Amino acid sequence: MLREQTMRTPSEKPYTEEDIGTSDQLKHYRVDLRQLSEKNYNKFVTLNTVRDWSQLSWEDIGKPYEVKTYSKDRLNWEKQNQTEMDPHTSWTYFNQAFHEWFSKDVPLEQQVAKQNFLTSIKRFKPGQIKEALHDVVQIQLWNYVHRIQDGIWDPRGKRALFEGLDINKPRILFLGAAEGYEAMQLAAMYPGAEVVLVDYDAYCKTTRFQEFPESYPFLGENPSTGQPKVYYKDDFDIEYVVDDIRNLDYGPTFDIVLSVGLLEHFPDEYKHEVADWHRRFLKPGGYVVMTTPRAQMKSKLYYHIMADVMNHTYRELMTVEQMGKYMYDNGFDILRHGYIKVHNGLVAQPR
Ligand SMILES: C[S@@+](CC[C@H](N)C(=O)[O-])C[C@H]1O[C@@H](n2cnc3c(N)ncnc32)[C@H](O)[C@@H]1O
Repeated sequence: MLREQTMRTPSEKPYTEEDIGTSDQLKHYRVDLRQLSEKNYNKFVTLNTVRDWSQLSWEDIGKPYEVKTYSKDRLNWEKQNQTEMDPHTSWTYFNQAFHEWFSKDVPLEQQVAKQNFLTSIKRFKPGQIKEALHDVVQIQLWNYVHRIQDGIWDPRGKRALFEGLDINKPRILFLGAAEGYEAMQLAAMYPGAEVVLVDYDAYCKTTRFQEFPESYPFLGENPSTGQPKVYYKDDFDIEYVVDDIRNLDYGPTFDIVLSVGLLEHFPDEYKHEVADWHRRFLKPGGYVVMTTPRAQMKSKLYYHIMADVMNHTYRELMTVEQMGKYMYDNGFDILRHGYIKVHNGLVAQPR
């Protein structure tokens, strides 16, 4: 059942098990407690297109597409500092810019952008008109991608990708965690989880994670009945570590090592190091779960239009075959691979 604007009374935890099967479009984001039936499964996740990874060559599949339109902030910084922006600084710019968009009251901002556009036309200044039109396009695109399609969080796609792991009360390590969304979704599906979020940008802990809505419901499992259950951020056992992944001194103590949008930010000469980060902290029998943005026309357009919000750092768009090959070539067996709305996903284990 799809519901438009909801008239719920404000509450810290507005959704219960009675709401399972529904989806609400709120001002800032979509809530999606719909489960996938066997029939509509294929609409959200397409899995396991490669049979034998050892047979796949780079000649067959080509290399990822590099996004080369950078944000104005990065270009200005580089002009001022007369040097290339370093990755750590670029992430601090990215996280601030991206978080601002999650905080937007989208219908209100759509109205404001349209009003500004009309005003700019009346003033008849081409520069102003162009800028105001760009603002309209950006907010319309954000509305479509995040609030209508739910392409960024994509809970149904992520749940389909994450299901079926053979683990109990897992320890989960999220590398480059930002607001930590996917670790929370995993923790809902695998109750009793102990989650460690790691990001070297302190703003991710103090703001992106801290301000992640307490009232956002995650659909998971009730461990005592095996039935579906709704969880919230404060139901989870989460530690947030602000540090460079390279400094982590954990042993192989995690059942799941997770990353979402990390591998594609490293050119080929560093990919083996990123693969190593995923291996180093895994218990024997543990799982690597990873996603990266898909190389598709829609995504290329998104990163072009949203360049000032998204493009502060090196970024590639890749196919799931390319992503899987990077991990296979770096010593992983690919257990499951596929694509969800805007990301590729895979589940892998060290060989
Ligand atoms: C593209 S973001 C992940 C996408 C995320 N889901 C989001 O919504 O922004 C990657 C994150 O990894 C972090 N990161 C990158 N390199 C890192 C490193 N060496 N150590 C710790 N964190 C790192 C960045 O600060 C950033 O927050």
